[in-house]
Amino acid sequence: MNKERKEPDQKGAFSRRQILTAAALTAPAIAVLGASAALAQPGKPANPQTRPQMARNRPIRLTGNTVLITGGGTGIGRGLAEQMHQLGNKVIIASRRRAVLEATAAEFPGMEVMTLDVRDPAGVRRFAAEIVERYPDLNVVFNNAGIMRRENLLDQQADLADMHDTIETNLNGPMRLTAALLPHLQTKPQSIIVNTTSGLAFVPLVTRPTYCAAKAAFHSYTVSLRYQLRKTRIEVFEIAPPGVQTELMPGQSRQPNYMPLPEFINQTMAQFRQTPPPVELLVDGVLGLRYAEREGRFDAAVDSLSGAF
Ligand SMILES: NC(=O)c1ccc[n+]([C@@H]2O[C@H](COP(=O)([O-])OP(=O)(O)OC[C@H]3O[C@@H](n4cnc5c(N)ncnc54)[C@H](OP(=O)(O)O)[C@@H]3O)[C@@H](O)[C@H]2O)c1
Repeated sequence: MNKERKEPDQKGAFSRRQILTAAALTAPAIAVLGASAALAQPGKPANPQTRPQMARNRPIRLTGNTVLITGGGTGIGRGLAEQMHQLGNKVIIASRRRAVLEATAAEFPGMEVMTLDVRDPAGVRRFAAEIVERYPDLNVVFNNAGIMRRENLLDQQADLADMHDTIETNLNGPMRLTAALLPHLQTKPQSIIVNTTSGLAFVPLVTRPTYCAAKAAFHSYTVSLRYQLRKTRIEVFEIAPPGVQTELMPGQSRQPNYMPLPEFINQTMAQFRQTPPPVELLVDGVLGLRYAEREGRFDAAVDSLSGAF
């Protein structure tokens, strides 16, 4: 356990941070968003030096793009698709369930749909070739599709199906789609890749171990991708949401301690509109998770999340 929050400092007094952290820990029934907010230390803005680095010093063009959003038929992807559509972009949403995609696209004239299963390597290569042929102006990719499964590591399926599915969907899938589209994106004057990770990339919700591991790995991949592409015309962003009211897990959209979806989308888009935007788009509710380890609150944060929905 983290020694800092259990032992007084050398003068025998608890520091302000120790007291705040202890208060956060004793609050009853802290759920994902609540824990995240409590750990962010209300009233005390995150240390500016711990805020993420900014993108290259130029605005991001948020209109006139051709935008692919995986998982764009539901939840966060749908919210982003709606915003990008309203800003005057051509938006293509893609996932496995065509009927769901078509129902969403029907609400936004001009929005296009394509089926895609990011777990299928050959299918992703075919998809990439087809989307580039149909939409040669494609220059923005949101790697947003994802799944979450509850896993008891002491009682796993014989074929480890949940573990495999989670890694294929949340990590291998977006990495293979990125690989397939990079040659095309490099030909455009300005391209953007936006990867959706999670606050749980930084502090695991221990009942979803593979999900958190995949998101942590996807965060790390995103950092390397940004670094390797720094001399190209492709910019790389990361969205790391806190708990948001979607149906990622059945019933999650009704959890009162999760962030309402419209509020999450509005805050995220507001960060995108900054000049330049932060490379990590972090709403206030996720800062407590993002910086928990750096600020010596990691064990407290893991404990706080462990009883969450
Ligand atoms: N909501 C949260 O609290 C939260 C927090 C942190 C991060 N996130 C991340 O945000 C992203 C969006 O999640 P959400 O909350 O909006 O949940 P959601 O509504 O369930 O969205 C997930 C989307 O991914 C698509 N998808 C799943 N498997 C796929 C596959 N193999 N190939 C292609 N598409 C696939 C789904 O569509 P089909 O079923 O039609 O394929 C669905 O539209 C995910 O990456 C999630 O991990 C969410």
